[in-house]
Amino acid sequence: MTPRILVTRRWPASVERVLADRFDTTFNQDDTPLAPSQLSDAFRQFDAVLPTVSDKLPASVFPDKDVRTRLLANFGVGFSHIDIDAARARGMTVTNTPGVLTDCTADIALALLLAAARRAGEGERQLRAGAWRGWCPTHMIGSKVSGKTIGIIGMGRIGKATAKRAHFGFDMKVVFYNRSKVDDETVRAMEARQLASVEEVLAEADFVSLHCPGGAENRHLINAARLRAMKPGAFLINTARGDVVDQEALIAALESGQIAGAGLDVYDGEPAVPAALLRLENVVLLPHLGSATEETRVAMGMRAVDNLTAFFEGRAVPDKVA
Ligand code: DGY
Repeated sequence: MTPRILVTRRWPASVERVLADRFDTTFNQDDTPLAPSQLSDAFRQFDAVLPTVSDKLPASVFPDKDVRTRLLANFGVGFSHIDIDAARARGMTVTNTPGVLTDCTADIALALLLAAARRAGEGERQLRAGAWRGWCPTHMIGSKVSGKTIGIIGMGRIGKATAKRAHFGFDMKVVFYNRSKVDDETVRAMEARQLASVEEVLAEADFVSLHCPGGAENRHLINAARLRAMKPGAFLINTARGDVVDQEALIAALESGQIAGAGLDVYDGEPAVPAALLRLENVVLLPHLGSATEETRVAMGMRAVDNLTAFFEGRAVPDKVA
């Protein structure tokens, strides 16, 4: 029998066509995020569910009996929105889409870094508001990026791609924190230095860029004390997950000028964004655009298709996370 699958949000049209051809596919036509009860029901009705970061899947959403779903093929590399233990306990396999969004996520980290340092958002707002009075030597002075030090927290694929852009594109020195030792050709080519603690990275970096997973283990990894440990004049860039940063502490650090600025693509509790952040000029705010290019979103979808196809053909799934 053709597997019944549920796609929780709209995907690129070309990928939806492949899914519709290969599987008995139900699409969420109006693209409204499903309620917890609808997700619970889906686990009883579909052989595979294809969720994404906007679907919260805590243990309470997983039914205790009559579970039909055997595969959760996540659209995205991060999967901290899924309670992996609960999925595993129901015998579900979980897959993600690594690799294909590395470049675009690193690109957006650099976009945020440059925009925050050079006050691009603030400048654009001023110009659009008709408030620009013309060039002068003291207008909207930012911080130079080239030649500064970037501190990467989490030197996985995206961390390395961000560091490469910073080093080879902007002549930046690279220091990083990663739980396990990272010593490969990429890191050696950048002369990147692995430091023993997050604090050591914060003490050296002019720009701190977060690339670790979200979820319980890294919740509030950047807290008030660590914001205080950053250099005065430093910037924080977050393209990882909102819960990695204590958002209230960050707002306080931005309001007091304890750090110079921030660039954020992700938020704790997104899509809600605290009003205090919206009021601040020294933070650049993007709506979770890291992987949002045509090429990458299609590649993410096709990666999920590969996982689904392998699973239902009885082959090993390429991107198993549980
Ligand atoms: C990812 O793949 O983790 C992106 O943030 C979208 O979920």
